[in-house]
Amino acid sequence: MKKLLYVGSFDPVTNGHLDLINRSAKLCDRLIVGVAENLSKKARYSVEDRLRMLKIAIAHLDNVETDSFTGLLADYAKRRKVEAVVRGLRATMDFEYELQMAHMNARLYENGIETLFLMSSPAYSFVSSGLVSEVFALGGNVEGLVPDSVLAYMKKIR
Ligand code: PNS
Repeated sequence: MKKLLYVGSFDPVTNGHLDLINRSAKLCDRLIVGVAENLSKKARYSVEDRLRMLKIAIAHLDNVETDSFTGLLADYAKRRKVEAVVRGLRATMDFEYELQMAHMNARLYENGIETLFLMSSPAYSFVSSGLVSEVFALGGNVEGLVPDSVLAYMKKIR
């Protein structure tokens, strides 16, 4: 594929996300990692920090760019002219939410953009940004769950 879009909150980017970024980048010429600015839940990190952490995490990949967007994902995907939007599935807990979003987005895309699901690696199937940031905020060890460079950034801005 030519252009894919991997979207999320990335609050913060985890090694689970990074695994999906690495794998998605191999499926296309260009991968956009899109950070959603307005979320239904409250973000722990500002969009600037979420983008900075992502940039650090993807520095080794030449065909990946980061960006942020406001408003509907469907409008952003159309604007960026991507062929598909990538989402990761960790377990059945993700499935219902993702299915609902994929159906809603399919109505909104209008022009055949697909939602492409990749299964998360088992090593990261329990990792979520929410849990990582909670454990980190309470002084727990999150080494190995986020890239080392991202962990250093989290410590710096704590
Ligand atoms: O990493 P997350 O929090 O699971 O990502 C959810 C995200 C950002 C993909 C979703 O909330 C989203 O698409 N937000 C943009 C606004 C939008 O289009 N909402 C309608 C979704 S059907």
